[in-house]
Amino acid sequence: RTARLTLDPAFTVAPVPRRLFGSFVEHMGRCVYTGIYEPGHPSADADGLRGDVLELVKELGPTVVRYPGGNFVSGFEWEDSVGPKDQRPRRLDRAWRTTETNQFGLAEFSTWARAAGVEPMMAVNLGTRGLQDACNLLEYSNHASGSKFSDLRVAHGSKDPFDIKLWCLGNELDGPWQTGHKTAHEYGRLAAETGRAMRLIDPDVELVAVGSSSRSMPTFGQWEDTVLELAYDTVDYISLHAYYEEHDGDAGSFLASGRDMDLFIEAVVATADAVRARGRHSKKINLSFDEWNVWYQSRPHHMPGTEPWDPTEPDERAPRLIEDEYSVTDAVVVGTLLHSLLRHADRVHIGAQAQLVNVIGLLRSEPGGPAWKQSIAYPFERMRHLAVGEVLQVGVRSDRYETAQFGDVDIVDAAATWDEENSVLALFVANRDLSESAGVSVDLRGFASLTAVRSAEVLAAAEGQDRHTTNADQHDAVGLRPLTGVEFADGRLRVELPPLSWGVVTLH
Ligand code: AHR
Repeated sequence: RTARLTLDPAFTVAPVPRRLFGSFVEHMGRCVYTGIYEPGHPSADADGLRGDVLELVKELGPTVVRYPGGNFVSGFEWEDSVGPKDQRPRRLDRAWRTTETNQFGLAEFSTWARAAGVEPMMAVNLGTRGLQDACNLLEYSNHASGSKFSDLRVAHGSKDPFDIKLWCLGNELDGPWQTGHKTAHEYGRLAAETGRAMRLIDPDVELVAVGSSSRSMPTFGQWEDTVLELAYDTVDYISLHAYYEEHDGDAGSFLASGRDMDLFIEAVVATADAVRARGRHSKKINLSFDEWNVWYQSRPHHMPGTEPWDPTEPDERAPRLIEDEYSVTDAVVVGTLLHSLLRHADRVHIGAQAQLVNVIGLLRSEPGGPAWKQSIAYPFERMRHLAVGEVLQVGVRSDRYETAQFGDVDIVDAAATWDEENSVLALFVANRDLSESAGVSVDLRGFASLTAVRSAEVLAAAEGQDRHTTNADQHDAVGLRPLTGVEFADGRLRVELPPLSWGVVTLH
């Protein structure tokens, strides 16, 4: 298998958006409870924040973290989660059919976000609630003092405002599963009016309108069109959500999931720009891809059903929901999804991988036990740290393969960035072939200052492993190792990628 790539400093897409490498913490399963928060864990601090998980989060380095849902937010009453912990009510969470103890709430998230060095991205409940409650929450969070809700925050012990700038106007309200599901018209009006009122409290907020829950939603396209018609002047971003999995052993289509992401992004950009043209608007609506990942939705899981709540169930407050264990294959797919986001950096300004811990998590943690990185954490972490400067256009001439879902697809998929200030080029590259290695030749003649390979790493099945190997038993089984045989001479880089692999090469 072979591929020829061409990069040139003159052909760029956009600066790497700081918020592209975000993640998501939802009150779901064990993401919060026994994920980031576990009083009594040997590594927990006085606030109950798990130190071992926090350290891993700092290594991953998500720039922005969406909170508190997800489907959870569409029934959430934020007032339950603030104030003295012993006075916070236990509430039935309809989304995941668990009992929410509210022992972790807005102030605790703010403390955790500061400790983790992440920007909070807050979602308001536009499922069962509306404009006034969103404004109350914003007043509680961002107003200094001298008003009912800001003074309440101060009385609760948080003198300084949380100062949250990025707000999601609801979650997946196009989905019939969502509490308070709406038509595009109902939602568009609500988003427009809620956003307008929120800006009167804090003119600096940035607002994300709910887009489609996937490209296969029956309302996809029409939803974005109607919502943006109604809310164009008020919002800054429209959201996209997408989850991928391997169906019936069709690894070829699964490995090409990035193609679906490309098509999804390009369709939403086209729709947003059509509304822009029709309305003679000057501003552009950008994209917030604020839920994406591999998620084995069709496998049997401990998913909430229709059974009644059982208060005697010991783990009802943090059940094991959708704790997918990720393999080598999943890590390669996640790498290519990140490539897609990066290649569209001119319009995708926010990304949030879903979710951070345990629930389809980058990380896993056991109650009272260890925490570790899943295979998918490695491409995320490397791209988060090495994608610096300008995103480059990548000219690709690759051998192709036939997929059931997407037709012909490139075997080699890539993205690249150029950090002119430090003269560092980063190439992120995947080989989708399951059995053959790929010889990748990269024309870098335009980068006169590059003299040598700085680093080269690869994620692939190691000796004795196969594409299904995960980190479930041996927590460091799948990860990055040195990529050998990398050559750079006369402006040409040559890389030999093992079968089914994701790699990163930097040059300086
Ligand atoms: O991330 C898990 C769930 O997936 C979220 O709660 C919801 O928004 C999406 O359907």
